[in-house]
Amino acid sequence: MGALTRSQVELRNRRHWAPLHRPALTDAERLIVRDRERPSRRRLLRSGSAIVTGMMLGTRWAEGAETGPGAPGGTQTGRRSTTLDPDYFKGMYATETDPWHFATSPYERDKYAATLASLPRSHYTSGLDVGCSIGVFTHQLCTRCDALIGLDVVPSVLEAARARCADCPNVHFMLAAVPGTWPDGRFDLIVISEVAYYLDRADLARLVARVAGALLPGGDIVLVHWLGVTHYPLSGDEAAEGFIAGARGFAQVLTQSRTAEYRLDVLRGLASGAPPVR
Ligand SMILES: C[S@@+](CC[C@H](N)C(=O)[O-])C[C@H]1O[C@@H](n2cnc3c(N)ncnc32)[C@H](O)[C@@H]1O
Repeated sequence: MGALTRSQVELRNRRHWAPLHRPALTDAERLIVRDRERPSRRRLLRSGSAIVTGMMLGTRWAEGAETGPGAPGGTQTGRRSTTLDPDYFKGMYATETDPWHFATSPYERDKYAATLASLPRSHYTSGLDVGCSIGVFTHQLCTRCDALIGLDVVPSVLEAARARCADCPNVHFMLAAVPGTWPDGRFDLIVISEVAYYLDRADLARLVARVAGALLPGGDIVLVHWLGVTHYPLSGDEAAEGFIAGARGFAQVLTQSRTAEYRLDVLRGLASGAPPVR
C-alpha cells in the first residue's frame, strides 16, 4: 500500500473529519495533493467535485462525525470552527509514531531543506520550534542554534523527539499547547511549521501576541504551511496571512515562497522590538 496523504491519515482516526458541503473546491484546494497522492486521486481532486473529493478521501457523507454543520465545532464548509485540542493529536499518534511520515517522506525532506535554506542567518542564539512533533526538523535545526526549544502538545512525541535529538545537548523539549502555554525566555528564531492552521482566529491572534512578546529585536519568524484541503479551522493561506497581518506592528515579511504544496514565509522583527501592549 502506498503512503497515505495527510488527510487520509487523519481520516483513519475518524474523529474530526466533517462532510464536505461545498458545491465545488476553491482554486487553492484544487492545487493540492501531496506528492505521495496517487495520480488517479490527484486527477479526481482536481476535477473539482466536493462529492468526489469526499468519497475519495473516505468521508462517509451521512457520518456527520463530531463536526458537520450543527455539530459542535463544525461549520458549513466542513471545517472545524475551534482550535483542535490536544486529544486530536494524541489520537493521531496513538497508532503510529510518525503519522505524517516526517522521517521518510520526500515532501517533508524537501520542505525541511527549503525551511533551513530560507533562514536568513546562519546561526541563532535562541530558537523555538513550535509543534516540533518527533523532532525530525528540530534535529536538523539544532546545529544552527546555540539553544533550541521544541514544544508540542503530545507527551509521547516529546519522548521520541528527545531520543532523536540525544546528540544535541543544546535542545530542550517542553509540553505545551500554544497559545495557552508558552515558554519563558526570548528567541531570535521562532519556527511555526504546519501548526498555525490548527488554531481558530482568536487563538491565532493570541499566538501572534505570544510571538510578539518573545521575539528578540530583529529576530526571525518562519511560517511553513501546507496548502492542501483540510478540515482545520484555517487553511494554510489563512493561517499564514492571518499571522502576517496580526504581526504587522512588530515584524515585516522578508521573503515568501510557494510551491504547489506549501508556502514558506519568513518575517523579521523590528530592530526596536515589539511595541508595548497597551
Ligand atoms: C503537522 S505536525 C508538524 C510538525 C513539524 N512542525 C513539521 O513541520 O514537520 C503538527 C504538530 O503540532 C502539534 N500541535 C498541534 N497543535 C498544537 C498546539 N496548539 N501547540 C503545540 N503543538 C501543537 C501536533 O501535536 C503535531 O505534532
